[in-house]
Amino acid sequence: MERPARLCGLWALLLYAGRGGVAAPAESQPPVTNLSVSVENLCTIIWTWNPPEGASPNCSLKYFSHFGNKQDKKIAPETHRSKEVPLNERICLQVGSQCSTNESEKPSILVEKCISPPEGDPESAVTELQCIWHNLRYMKCTWLPGRNTSPDTNYTLYYWHNSLGKILQCENIYREGQHIACSFNLTKVKDSSFEQHSVQVMVKDNAGKIRPSFNIVPLTSHVKPDPPHIKNLSFQNGDLYVQWTNPQNFQSKCLSYEVEVNNSHAETHDIFYVEEAKCQNTEFEGNLEGTICFMVPGVLPDTLNTVRIRVKTNKLCYEDDKLWSNWSQAMSIGQKANPTFYITTLLIIPVIVAAAVIVLLLYLKRLKIIIFPPIPDPGKIFKEMFGDQNDDTLHWKKYDIYEKQTKEETDSVVLIESLKRASQ
Ligand SMILES: *[C@@H]1O[C@H](CO)[C@@H](O)[C@H](O)[C@H]1NC(C)=O
Ligand SMILES: *[C@@H]1O[C@H](CO)[C@@H](O)[C@H](O)[C@H]1NC(C)=O
Ligand SMILES: *[C@@H]1O[C@H](CO)[C@@H](O)[C@H](O)[C@H]1NC(C)=O
Ligand SMILES: *[C@@H]1O[C@H](CO)[C@@H](O)[C@H](O)[C@H]1NC(C)=O
Ligand SMILES: *[C@@H]1O[C@H](CO)[C@@H](O)[C@H](O)[C@H]1NC(C)=O
Ligand SMILES: *[C@@H]1O[C@H](CO)[C@@H](O)[C@H](O)[C@H]1NC(C)=O
Ligand SMILES: *[C@@H]1O[C@H](CO)[C@@H](O)[C@H](O)[C@H]1NC(C)=O
Ligand SMILES: *[C@@H]1O[C@H](CO)[C@@H](O)[C@H](O)[C@H]1NC(C)=O
Repeated sequence: MERPARLCGLWALLLYAGRGGVAAPAESQPPVTNLSVSVENLCTIIWTWNPPEGASPNCSLKYFSHFGNKQDKKIAPETHRSKEVPLNERICLQVGSQCSTNESEKPSILVEKCISPPEGDPESAVTELQCIWHNLRYMKCTWLPGRNTSPDTNYTLYYWHNSLGKILQCENIYREGQHIACSFNLTKVKDSSFEQHSVQVMVKDNAGKIRPSFNIVPLTSHVKPDPPHIKNLSFQNGDLYVQWTNPQNFQSKCLSYEVEVNNSHAETHDIFYVEEAKCQNTEFEGNLEGTICFMVPGVLPDTLNTVRIRVKTNKLCYEDDKLWSNWSQAMSIGQKANPTFYITTLLIIPVIVAAAVIVLLLYLKRLKIIIFPPIPDPGKIFKEMFGDQNDDTLHWKKYDIYEKQTKEETDSVVLIESLKRASQ
């Protein structure tokens, strides 16, 4: 029991010595001065500060900073830091100085500066402010009125993006059910940093009665493509080939697909998730620029098949992949099963079968008569002798018997003659 206790004591001593060693110079390090905060654009928040007074001349000054809750720690030589923040909540930055980029070096006392949301009743601010970038062409933002607002509030939406150079106002605000919406053009410019910048959005009212709401829309997500366009459906060796064109502004590699095949006869509803659209058949490959092809297996060719496709962005090019496009126009291939055709077939088949059976029966009856001639009925013969003499069948039977007898006689003559020949 003694040894562990002693070891613990030793550890405590070592730890104490380590701490003391680091803490001593840190305490002499003075804090930063003149920390201030300002807002640029709609919600780019910028903190600036001046170097500490009386810093050691041998110190290569570095600044340690983090947001409230110790988020996004950073050690850098610059005397400013900025962040895009939806200003719906208070946000604070803490800054300290130190003499190296070494993380284990303890910085000076931290100085804090916060920025609060704009004045106003939080309950009056609009809620569920969301924006979707439609086909990389226009952005549509929607929101719901705040709880404490009059129904005739006149909203305005402002937006900013690095490529626009200034804050713009969204032109036509309209209602969409419960939501209020506004759309503005935002087309991708050929600039490699375009998508690194977000769109800053602010919604307020003309009269200044509601508290402004902010949103920051990253351009690597929230993208909803237009639906694709089906060009051709064809059957090749029993497989269904679907060809379509992608919505404009998208490369094929940046999209995933869903192909829906409904079969009206089997009443099936199949959905194929296509990560990479490609047809084995070389006929379809590379011959048509911008055309995508997918082979659907196991489709009944003699029935009506209805196909639709939708697309969404994938993780290869975008950060989120949750928004499906609308379904494309449906296209059909094959014959629709005609209900009247079915009814007529249902009626005609028994008629044909019945007719065939009757014909067969009649034929069998004649065959029976030929194979098994009716046994002469003595009663009938008497009847014929004394009664009706015009019965044809009797004449025919008499003739039949007569013929058989003559045949037997001829046979015996032939036999006798051949016997004679053999004996000679
Ligand atoms: C802080 O700001 C004041 C006034 O703006 C200025 O006089 C002072 O020199 C600044 N302090 C430092 C350390 O730069
Ligand atoms: C700065 O460093 C030099 C040599 O490296 C040393 O002589 C001097 O005492 C140091 N000054 C302070 C204030 O630590
Ligand atoms: C950082 O400081 C610790 C203790 O002060 C030291 O052991 C370590 O080597 C330093 N790291 C760098 C990269 O200077
Ligand atoms: C909104 O605008 C309409 C017409 O421009 C006006 O009549 C109405 O009073 C405005 N509402 C508010 C809350 O200012
Ligand atoms: C948006 O773009 C379309 C065509 O791309 C154009 O017709 C329309 O006028 C533009 N709207 C605005 C507000 O610039
Ligand atoms: C998608 O479908 C919705 C609802 O049917 C419609 O309002 C919208 O215009 C469609 N979007 C496109 C890009 O076709
Ligand atoms: C569809 O594809 C098939 C097979 O390649 C071709 O025979 C047919 O002409 C195409 N139809 C249309 C409308 O392009
Ligand atoms: C295919 O079937 C599903 C499920 O029955 C249905 O929701 C869908 O609308 C159908 N598609 C077409 C193009 O009719």
